[in-house]
Amino acid sequence: MLRLFSMVIAAGLSLACLTAYVLENYTVQPTISGAGGHPRAGQPPYPGPGMDNIFWFIQVSDIHISRFVDPQRTLDFQKFCTETIDVIKPAIVFVTGDLTDAKTKNKIGSVQHEIEWQTYQTILKQSRVLEKTKWIDIKGNHDTFNVPSLKSANNYYRKYSAFRREGSFHYVHQTHFGNYSFICADATLSPGPKRPFNFFGLLNQNKMNELSKLASETVHSNQTIWFGHYTTSTIISASPGIQQVMSTAIAYLCGHLHTLGGLMPVLHGRHSQGTLELELADWMENRKYRILAFDHDLFSFVDLTFDKWPATLITNPKSTLYSSPGHEPLGKIKHSTHIRILVFSPSQITSVLVSIDGMTIGSAVHIRGPLFSLLWRAEDYSSGMHYIEVRAQDTAGRTTIEGHEFAVEENRVLHFDIVSSFILLAHHYIMARVVFVMVLLANIMLIIAFRYQRKPQLKESPGFFTLTIFSFHMFSKTSVFYYPVLLFTCYTAVGPWFIGEVIDGRFGACFVFGIVVDGHFLEGSLTFFIGILQLTFFNIPLICYLCWCLLLRCRGACFRTHVKYVGWIRTVPMHLFLAALLLWQVYACYFLLITYGTAAFFLSPVRTWSVVLAVGLVYKAWTLNNSAIRTFKTEMKNCRYS
Ligand SMILES: *[C@@H]1O[C@H](CO)[C@@H](O)[C@H](O)[C@H]1NC(C)=O
Repeated sequence: MLRLFSMVIAAGLSLACLTAYVLENYTVQPTISGAGGHPRAGQPPYPGPGMDNIFWFIQVSDIHISRFVDPQRTLDFQKFCTETIDVIKPAIVFVTGDLTDAKTKNKIGSVQHEIEWQTYQTILKQSRVLEKTKWIDIKGNHDTFNVPSLKSANNYYRKYSAFRREGSFHYVHQTHFGNYSFICADATLSPGPKRPFNFFGLLNQNKMNELSKLASETVHSNQTIWFGHYTTSTIISASPGIQQVMSTAIAYLCGHLHTLGGLMPVLHGRHSQGTLELELADWMENRKYRILAFDHDLFSFVDLTFDKWPATLITNPKSTLYSSPGHEPLGKIKHSTHIRILVFSPSQITSVLVSIDGMTIGSAVHIRGPLFSLLWRAEDYSSGMHYIEVRAQDTAGRTTIEGHEFAVEENRVLHFDIVSSFILLAHHYIMARVVFVMVLLANIMLIIAFRYQRKPQLKESPGFFTLTIFSFHMFSKTSVFYYPVLLFTCYTAVGPWFIGEVIDGRFGACFVFGIVVDGHFLEGSLTFFIGILQLTFFNIPLICYLCWCLLLRCRGACFRTHVKYVGWIRTVPMHLFLAALLLWQVYACYFLLITYGTAAFFLSPVRTWSVVLAVGLVYKAWTLNNSAIRTFKTEMKNCRYS
């Protein structure tokens, strides 16, 4: 009893530590570098009525052009490249990865389809979008599924994309009012294994050194933005860490997580160094894209849905939630003479009505292109938080309302919600490692402890708890179960899970701590999550089931007579539970067969072999009748059971 109590306490304490860690890391005030904020905060030029010191650009992500599903996805993308780009006229378009879907027809396997890439290229060519804007497309994890090396023929990115730059790079957008740096952080894997093993990106020491060098090139730029496919929480990076290396950037734009299956429609957060991390929902299902702008070096953006017009972006006063005092000259807001708004629509804009704190303050005047401005007195709003709202209408009768909280004083900071910060910024792979090791050790220690602990004497009518403990003793003290289960559990941590075609034509071995393929070692990340699942939904439940059977066996039962001893109500769920367990594992074997080939299916100790092992052990637990069982039987003979 005492032992159980201390285990509960220990579990509670670790949970408390985890919670404290999460709260500490994802709700802290960002550090504001220098008391005065940005060096050019009090310097002209200031936002006024004119079409000056402003440019805008677009991000779109996770397009997933597929030859099998949703042809509308492709058609809409074509319309995006023609109509949307023509209306918005962005200076640059960033496509942050997963240009193609690269899945097999059954959606389980993954392979590069040339036709999907050709479709992508055809859209770019037919829409002539490359002549209209700077189109920077980069790879995502889907674009590197099953690609043995960058030089290989099925690295279609090299052949069909527009930008065709492998690895990280620095692109400078030059204007007459300043230079703007854009750095791509390429964390895609090479070689690129099949699904699901490149869900996490990897930046080794060499790649990090390269990124540090690129970061140092941006010192003379007015602003720097980083972009990539993976969120920083899904990148394993060497020192000094991906968030640290981009700390001089105002924002990091990425995709990859889509909306987490609709759970998180907005995933925005802020690094402790102040950099914003802005994940963009996917094109694939949600048809999302983003307009971003630098207006007098103040950064603003809006996430939009395709074909919803008018598209409105308020660039001054900018949203306080997305402000970064260390990275942008927020002081310019209080010196500004005009509210500035970009409004885009295929039809003519008829009115742009501005209100602050619920009071209409006027109609913004069209300047040029998409820019509208309205005279204001910033000092009227100099204290506290305010809410600006813009209602834009076009001749087609469509109306949109866009608004945000703003402050005129500098150094005000609003917080992002903790769930999205956690998803975007936490080091999930480290947590997965820790949890895996903890579950593994608990599992092993439990099995070993019961083998060497003295077995308690059974009372005349033992309760549920005593019987449970007793069954664990029986399990661990019966060598037929003890050794196979102990070895199997240890093997899960150290041995290869399977050996097979990790990439078509390239054999590799998958361990929980990483994948070895073609002479490369890819550090484990998702593998640890799968390891946790394997332990908690297979190994441990299997032990529990074996204990239950063993207990009944020692009371004299075999499979056919379980019902007689404990009744239908307990027997049926227990057997269903085992069936579900085995089915799940059999599905995993099927997945191996489909994805990694016949070899992987047969050379898979943790999957295929484990099903055989489990069936063998269960059979033993139903039928075993050796001296150990007989001793337990006599011990239990005189007990009465409720
Ligand atoms: C960009 O930086 C230069 C040099 O620091 C500065 O003169 C210029 O005003 C900046 N541009 C804007 C739009 O603030």
